[in-house]
Amino acid sequence: AETLRSIARAAGRGFGAAVRADLLGSDAAYAALFAAEAELLTPEWEAKWVALQPEEGRFDFSHLNAIITFAQANRQRVRGHALLWQEAIPDWVKAALAEGPDRARGVMEAHFAGVLGTTRQHIRDWDVVNEPIANPPGADVPQAGDNPLRETPWFKALGPNYIEMAFRTARAQDATLRLTLNEYGIEESTPDAEEKRRRLLALLRRLLDKGCPLDALGIQAHLQMRKPFDPAPFARFLDQIRAMGLAILITELDVREPDTLAEGIPARDAAVAERVKQFLDVAVAGGCRTVITWGLTDRNSWLGNEPGVLRRDGATTRGLPFDEELRRKPMWQAIAGAL
Ligand code: XIL
Repeated sequence: AETLRSIARAAGRGFGAAVRADLLGSDAAYAALFAAEAELLTPEWEAKWVALQPEEGRFDFSHLNAIITFAQANRQRVRGHALLWQEAIPDWVKAALAEGPDRARGVMEAHFAGVLGTTRQHIRDWDVVNEPIANPPGADVPQAGDNPLRETPWFKALGPNYIEMAFRTARAQDATLRLTLNEYGIEESTPDAEEKRRRLLALLRRLLDKGCPLDALGIQAHLQMRKPFDPAPFARFLDQIRAMGLAILITELDVREPDTLAEGIPARDAAVAERVKQFLDVAVAGGCRTVITWGLTDRNSWLGNEPGVLRRDGATTRGLPFDEELRRKPMWQAIAGAL
C-alpha cells in the first residue's frame, strides 16, 4: 500500500515526522506507523541539549540512540534537532553562560564536539540554531524591545554573533553536514509574520555575506487556522530564500485549529486539510523537497499538551495526518497530494 514515505520517495522528495523514543519503545502500533510512513525522523526531545548533556561533560546518547537504532532497522534517516535553542537547556548551561563570553564559547564548542563527533555517522543534517528571530509586536508572544534577534541566553552571553559562531563551530566539526537554521511564525500573512520574515531575510543575508556556513532554512510551519494564509507573499519569501542558494525544508508541520471550531469532526478535518494543501502547494512549488510533520498522530501531538488548545467532545486537537486511532485523516490525503 502507498504511504507518505513511498509517495514522497517516488516523487524524489522526503517525508518524515518528529518521533519520541519512549513511545517507540512502548507502543508497537506507534512504532509500526512511523516505520511505514516516515523516511526521516526528527527526535522530538532526544537531541536537545538537556537530553544530550544534562550535566557538564556527561553526555547521554541513550535516548537518541534508541531512535538511531530504530531508523537503521527501518532504513530511515535521522535529523538533528537542535544544537542551540533557548529552551531545553539545563541550569548548568545557563549558569555557565552567565560567567562570560569565553566560558560561553567553550561550552558551545564542547557540546558541538561531543554531539557531532559522536553522531556524525548517523545524523548528517542538523538544526544548528533554532528560533533566533524575535517575535515582533502583534505576535502571539511578542518580545519586548525592537531587537530583530531574540535575546536568548546565547545572545546575552555572546552577542548577535553567537549565530555565526554556532554555524562555524558546527562546520569545523564536520565539513559535510547540512547545517540548517530553523524558525517559526513566518508562514502566515499577519503583519507580525511579515515583519518576522523581513527580520529573518536580513539575518540570512548578513550571515551569507560574511561567508557563514549555512545550507538550509527550516520552516517549522506550526500553522494556525485563525490566521490568514496568503500564498503570494509566502511564495515570494521562498523565492528570496532560494535565490540565496539555501535549501528549504518544512520541519515541524502541524495545524492549530481555530478559536471557534467548525461543527463536527468531518468539517474540522476538511478545513485543516485544505489549509495544509494550500500551504504545501506553495512550499513544494517554491522548491521545498522535504516535509516533516511534528508527530504523526493526534494521540501524541504536542499541541494537545499546550494550555489553551481547544478540545471538543473529549477529542484532542486534530492537527496531524493520523487520528487518535491511527487512522488516516484528510490531512494525510492533503500531504500525499502535495508531495
Ligand atoms: C516541543 C515538543 O514537541 C514538546 O514535547 C516539548 O515539551 C517542547 O518542545 N518548536 C520546536 C520544537 O523547535 O523543538 C518544539 O518541540 C515545538 C516548537
